[in-house]
Amino acid sequence: MGELYEKLKAYDESGYYPYHMPGHKRRLGGSVLERIASLDITEIDGFDNLHDADGILKRLQEKAARVYGAEESFYLINGSTAGVLAAISAAVPQDGKILLDRGAHRSAYHAVYLRNLDARYLTADSIEGFGCRDRIRPRQVEKALAEEPDIRAVFLVSPTYEGIVSDIEEIAKIVHARGIPLIVDEAHGAHLGFHPAWPQNSSRLGADMVIQSLHKTLPSPTQTALLHVNGNLADRRKLRRFLSIYQSSSPSYVLMAAMEEALEITAGRAEELFGAFLRRWDTMLAELEQCRCLRFLRTEGMDKGKLVITDRSGTLTGKELYERLLERYRLQPEMAAGNYVLAMFTIGDTEEGFCRMTRALLETDKELREGSDGGEKPKEFSWPDINRLPPRALSPGEAWERTGEKIPLSRAAGRTASEFVFLYPPGIPLLVPGECFTEEICGYIRRCVENGLRVTGVSSAGGERMGSEARAAGMEAMVTVLKRQER
Ligand SMILES: Cc1ncc(COP(=O)(O)O)c(C=O)c1O
Repeated sequence: MGELYEKLKAYDESGYYPYHMPGHKRRLGGSVLERIASLDITEIDGFDNLHDADGILKRLQEKAARVYGAEESFYLINGSTAGVLAAISAAVPQDGKILLDRGAHRSAYHAVYLRNLDARYLTADSIEGFGCRDRIRPRQVEKALAEEPDIRAVFLVSPTYEGIVSDIEEIAKIVHARGIPLIVDEAHGAHLGFHPAWPQNSSRLGADMVIQSLHKTLPSPTQTALLHVNGNLADRRKLRRFLSIYQSSSPSYVLMAAMEEALEITAGRAEELFGAFLRRWDTMLAELEQCRCLRFLRTEGMDKGKLVITDRSGTLTGKELYERLLERYRLQPEMAAGNYVLAMFTIGDTEEGFCRMTRALLETDKELREGSDGGEKPKEFSWPDINRLPPRALSPGEAWERTGEKIPLSRAAGRTASEFVFLYPPGIPLLVPGECFTEEICGYIRRCVENGLRVTGVSSAGGERMGSEARAAGMEAMVTVLKRQER
């Protein structure tokens, strides 16, 4: 049991009457709250204050830092979102320049907007046959920094949603040679570094600020995350200030107690949990080698736990494969993209979880084989070439402040986006406010909508999502662009 949990439990039994928040007074509530009310308190005496920790919460954060080999760690109760916002805001001054992974989560773009930053992008190649983004290469970072010496920080996502890991150690050396910090969004990698079969975590590889969602890959509840800080390139005073701006002033003790326990379980039983996971994972992949039509992404140094599946026979799109797994087999994948489906596995998975997915995929592959001519058909539905960034008319900060208007997607080419357009998940923008719609991007958005993928920033004229009903009713996809006279 965690220290915070024990203390909360003891407090609940201690006889103190609560003349303070929360309003449920540790008793009144529905069936959800009933299970946690007794542990749900505010910053009362003896329980420290996350925004200025010097007691039990300080100890918990120190423990987290030891687990990940970081100098200092902060508990995040507003998810990695708060950590990304705070890290970028602390690293780059208002109106400053940042080198940003184009595959960054929207929280990074929101930081760019809030601080009116000038973002320069690092683009990644698309992985052949799958269409998802490859890693960012050290020489790309080196080149970009040489070209723009006034960049104040570098922000990378590693691992990506699909489990692609960049060479953080090498990139950190390059970034440090310029005397600026490297921020790694490791939201999908809180499980890294616990076992030699996985890549090392970015704190141990030299990154200055690292953000991890505990809830994504560890046994921890939604919204729980960590921000780690190392070295002297990150401004820790500013970081604390921005964390207190972006995080709730009422951090949940239930979430914090759960985080402590999640780390205790993971670190304390790492060999057993990751060892068992690895055996099951390797067995599943060995069985799936029989597949002829379905292919599974495996690249050097890739995270184990991300099953990225594509149909090379050209029969099923990502969305169709996703729906088949969901409807026929009652298996809920993490997401569908144009060409592929992503299923996530963690140390929380059971034998049943591995077996059901294996059976469903082997059966699907058999049907695909029987129905196809055996030849590999070219794929046509991958991400647009993100190495060719759309032309930019305005910065996100300028564009988002201006008035937009809705127009049909069919007339959008050449117009400037006034809202983000992205597939969610994963939330990587196709267009950032201020960038121009191109024919290629319009075509890609149209294919996404036709394939039933969820595209944020695209709706019907009435504002409804372009779901199957809107498509069946022949509604036109609309996007928001800047009004002409304001450009
Ligand atoms: C790469 C990446 N960074 C940050 C986030 C935000 O994480 P959270 O949901 O913990 O706020 C996400 C969420 O999906 C993500 O994919």
